[in-house]
Amino acid sequence: MCGIVGYIGDREALPVLINGLKRLEYRGYDSAGVALLRNQIDVYKCKGKVSDLERFMGDAPHSGNIGMGHTRWATHGEPNDVNAHPHTSYNGKFVIIHNGIIENYARLRERLKERGVHFKSETDTEVLCNLIGYIYENSEVDAEMAVRLALSKVVGAYGLVVMCVDEPDKLIAARKGSPLVIGVGNEEYFLASDATPIVEYTKSVIYLNDGDVAIIRKEQLILKTSAQDVAVPKVQQLTFDIGEIDKGGYEHFMLKEIFEQPQSIEDTFRGRVRADELELHLGGLYEVLPQLVEAKRIVIIGCGTSWHAGLVGEYLFEDLARIPVEVEYASEFRYRNPIIHKDDIVIAISQSGETADTLAAIKLAKEKGALVLGICNVVGSSIPRETDAGVYTHAGPEIGVASTKAFTCQVTVLAMMAILIGKKKGVLSTERYHDLIKEFIKVPAKTQRILALADHIKKIASLYQNVTNALYLGRGYLFPVALEGALKLKEISYIHAEGYPAAEMKHGPIALIDDKMPVVVVATKDSSYEKIVSNIQEVKARSGIVIAVVTEGDTVIRDMADHVIEIPEAENVYATLLSVVPLQLLSYYIAVMRGCNVDQPRNLAKSVTVE
Ligand code: F6R
Repeated sequence: MCGIVGYIGDREALPVLINGLKRLEYRGYDSAGVALLRNQIDVYKCKGKVSDLERFMGDAPHSGNIGMGHTRWATHGEPNDVNAHPHTSYNGKFVIIHNGIIENYARLRERLKERGVHFKSETDTEVLCNLIGYIYENSEVDAEMAVRLALSKVVGAYGLVVMCVDEPDKLIAARKGSPLVIGVGNEEYFLASDATPIVEYTKSVIYLNDGDVAIIRKEQLILKTSAQDVAVPKVQQLTFDIGEIDKGGYEHFMLKEIFEQPQSIEDTFRGRVRADELELHLGGLYEVLPQLVEAKRIVIIGCGTSWHAGLVGEYLFEDLARIPVEVEYASEFRYRNPIIHKDDIVIAISQSGETADTLAAIKLAKEKGALVLGICNVVGSSIPRETDAGVYTHAGPEIGVASTKAFTCQVTVLAMMAILIGKKKGVLSTERYHDLIKEFIKVPAKTQRILALADHIKKIASLYQNVTNALYLGRGYLFPVALEGALKLKEISYIHAEGYPAAEMKHGPIALIDDKMPVVVVATKDSSYEKIVSNIQEVKARSGIVIAVVTEGDTVIRDMADHVIEIPEAENVYATLLSVVPLQLLSYYIAVMRGCNVDQPRNLAKSVTVE
């Protein structure tokens, strides 16, 4: 969270920075600011979005070939003009933008105050900036060393960029725990929290590692490791294009990303699920496959939507590969002294690859000797680099803050893994294995057919746009889908929603049922179909409103429910992928009708890089 951009070269920096901040706004949008360096450093910042910053700066020319910009997700200090980044040191020597949290900021602040340093904001970032300024002023060191010495006193996480008024030919960037990417141009460099602001200028990028400090001049980049050794930067090529991070004619990124799912699911299994040979290959797991086949237990960790995908994974691994699975919130995992054995396999799931809680859980699992695998979307992000092996989802950039296509691609990977392990273990017969592969191939086309129901779903949405509560029910494989449907509704429309296993309803939530609260039931035909039909009857018997996601041609539920959304027939393994799509659309349309900003819901950020 928080978006960072930087530029050094011959271009005017401001358009590069503003453009980049707009691309990064999904990471946080409480306030925005830029700093431009030409003889002096000028800082412009205000509460609000990047568009507010543009209005604030007006049309007057703002010149400079070196600069940095920031879009904030507040941690320390409310979102206001003063707390917005960039921050300037008390002596005017340094300007900084920062993503992360300085955990010992209160103590550092007190010490600096005792030495007469004044503070303007409530932020931990200003503490770091003043510490750098203080060290610079009181020791015989250059800007780089002042930054290094200050960072050595800091506990916490940071991705940061610093400019020093006395050394106006450079940007200094450092990373520990919060991502930073450097784009390499021709006598110019671009900096950002992720590659989306960079890809339109260059595809050559360097991902900083934890502890790295980069000293960036127009004509030269020097990369130093935490041991202060000069390192040869590893230049990698981006694999996506600028077109993939535009709205492509859709009103919102979220809608575009929902509609991309047939393609993104196919991209995720392309070359892995092979229809011609009826085989499944996962190159990223090749070396660890024997351990997976022998695994006594799998522990899946993730947060939010990725945790929901992990719950689907639990059903998949237990059903298809007969391996016991536990699914843990990454944020809870490391605070409860978890029991992890050396022969456990830990699977971390994350769209961004930067979620701080998930990264911390990975580190703990590794310390305990487990093999840790990653399922991740952002290539080159921290989680794939921290894990022993893994599989990328090929969802493409997900910009809408509410996760949609990442979820279906994560489930796609989990299904591939479970099927592959099940076959290698001998749990799945060859016939069943081949049937599963044949059905896999049909998922994109089936998803496309669900998207054609958008207008029908929009009509249902219009009837329930003003409700204050909603209940989502599902059983077995479809219970995590109910959880995910409820999360989508609450995060983008601010309607309170709960997901429950349908049979649990009678143990409490049934008391909520009335003629105002919609109950969304995921009730496709599977082994527990008869049971969920009974659950629907229980809701109807109490004058409840039922919106049911059912298998095409289901007349039984059609006669009982207030509304049905019919999706193509699919067995459990794939019904999870299909049944979540109408729930995404329902939430989307309700949120739009309520006037909510679906791509940037309040208080949220796409990539949660603080614990
Ligand atoms: C919900 C959502 C969040 C993320 C969660 C984990 O729509 O987007 O709940 O799923 O913050 O993020 P990643 O997957 O990037 O680790």
